[in-house]
Amino acid sequence: MAFRLKWGIMATGGIAKSFAQDLLMDPTKRGANDVQHVIAAIASSSSQSSAERFAKDIGAPEATRTYGSYKELVADADVEIIYIATPQSRHYKDVILCLNAGKHVLCEKPFTINSRQAEHLVALSQSKGLFLMEAAWTRFFPRTKEILSLLHKEKEIGTIKRVIADFSLQVRDPGSRLHNPDLGGGALLDLGFYSLLWAFMVLQKHPDNENAMPKVTASVVKTDRGVDEFTSMTLVYERLNAVAHLSTSISARTPKYSVVIQGDNGEIMISGPPPRPREYVIHAHDGERSITVDLVGNDLGWEADACARALRDGKRGCEESPLQDTLAMLRIMDDIRRQGDFVFPAPLEEVEV
Ligand SMILES: NC(=O)c1ccc[n+]([C@@H]2O[C@H](COP(=O)([O-])OP(=O)(O)OC[C@H]3O[C@@H](n4cnc5c(N)ncnc54)[C@H](OP(=O)(O)O)[C@@H]3O)[C@@H](O)[C@H]2O)c1
Repeated sequence: MAFRLKWGIMATGGIAKSFAQDLLMDPTKRGANDVQHVIAAIASSSSQSSAERFAKDIGAPEATRTYGSYKELVADADVEIIYIATPQSRHYKDVILCLNAGKHVLCEKPFTINSRQAEHLVALSQSKGLFLMEAAWTRFFPRTKEILSLLHKEKEIGTIKRVIADFSLQVRDPGSRLHNPDLGGGALLDLGFYSLLWAFMVLQKHPDNENAMPKVTASVVKTDRGVDEFTSMTLVYERLNAVAHLSTSISARTPKYSVVIQGDNGEIMISGPPPRPREYVIHAHDGERSITVDLVGNDLGWEADACARALRDGKRGCEESPLQDTLAMLRIMDDIRRQGDFVFPAPLEEVEV
């Protein structure tokens, strides 16, 4: 019999809607026969009517409860795990609220504003014996696992020498949270996360790297409001003799090939946005081939299935997105921000311990 996981949805914005839609999808469409998802409750920070509107928009079942505050959501005894989809400025405090109420948590990326906050959350989840994970959805796609297997196991392009990755969006709306320092805006934490994630998956997690941290050099160009408009990063992985050249921006566009991984025997080029690659081209010694994958719903169900399996098996995290990796990525982002003199308003950077 399939394992059923009962979710609470915290926030009613764009990604919350996409995730909730995938929870309502039949998991067998992703080939998952062993897990099922139920949306037990939805909460908005502003009003119960927002939560009701959200429930109606996604076609949630009648039995789904709606709340006008996050405190009511975490007090719902029937909710087992909470998906946090608030802006990153709030993640740290929202995770604490959930863990203190005894709830398992899947929290959107970037997990927190800085690594010290994440360290506190990891310790808190461990002390309470609760599941906690960053929703780094890209890591859960079968196609991502396939690309990493081609690189690390089959060594399709030989010894990896370089990763070039960019994720940028022209964010024209000045009211967007990406322009707002009080919501943890800017390119790095929101978009550059994915440029960094590809370097992390390919180089930091390379079996020969043994999780060694890179040497990081970064430069940051800030907007008048003090968030990063452009950030460029070079990561040197000395054990691999390999580098990553990474970039991100909120005022330019990602090039056609957003991630290029070069080896001494070929390259893999990923087209489309790095969070959700759709097509990749493998150029190796035996010629060139192009692989296009089908999108499955909003592609957010893969990570939900992984949470359900982990909880079914009594685990407190998933091997695809371990907290140790979340911490390491945040330490790299801290380093990049330090080099670029890029700090958020003091309350966002605070740690409670
Ligand atoms: N995995 C991905 O592909 C992906 C994609 C997009 C975004 N994200 C991440 O998910 C998070 C949310 O992004 P989003 O694009 O969904 O944002 P969004 O559309 O702006 O929604 C954020 C929601 O958070 C709630 N909220 C609570 N306090 C808020 C505040 N002070 N200001 C604004 N909203 C507040 C609001 O819902 P209620 O008031 O109704 O609770 C709002 O609708 C971010 O951390 C982002 O980096 C991930």
